[in-house]
Amino acid sequence: MMVLITLRLRQNVKLTILRLRFSLTNQHNMPLRYPSVILLLLLALAACTPQDARPIPTALPAGDAANGEVLFTSRIGNQVECSSCHSLDGSRGTGPSLLGYGEVAGRRRSGMSAQEYTVRSIVQPGDVVVPGYSNIMPSNFGQHLSDQDLADLVAYLLSQ
Ligand code: HEC
Repeated sequence: MMVLITLRLRQNVKLTILRLRFSLTNQHNMPLRYPSVILLLLLALAACTPQDARPIPTALPAGDAANGEVLFTSRIGNQVECSSCHSLDGSRGTGPSLLGYGEVAGRRRSGMSAQEYTVRSIVQPGDVVVPGYSNIMPSNFGQHLSDQDLADLVAYLLSQ
């Protein structure tokens, strides 16, 4: 029974593909066809792009550390607070403690300033994983943070 159903299904799919091919090759409005194919390809590409993608801003406005502190202890998007994974007193949590972070940030990656490294750590944490930790920091914070929010967070973290 199952075999029969499977065969039927296969035949149906083959027939559909044949019909589709036929209708594509039989269209006379060639100039219309290519743009729609390209449009379909673009749509497919957009669907494949990871949702977390957010360009890393190259220049940020001046940051306000006080607002950065508020953000650090608030829920952003659907995630838990930064402070629930990062302590500020040196104790190890799910993520590294940010005690003395202002000192180390600029030395984490050669050629990356403390600010660049911090922005990347927040927007695309998978790119700059701290040795000894797993790549489990949520990667969608960037979607919920404006450039100003990012600048504020960076100012706050670098003041630690
Ligand atoms: C679910 C836990 C979790 C949450 C929530 C989280 N992080 Fe992280 N974070 C990590 C882990 C684990 C690492 C180490 C691995 C890595 O670098 O991705 C890390 C690394 C970092 C680093 C690099 C630290 C270093 O010493 O180089 C920074 C900066 C950072 N996080 C900032 C933030 C900020 C800001 C937020 C909130 C917007 C946040 N994190 C939320 C888990 C978390």
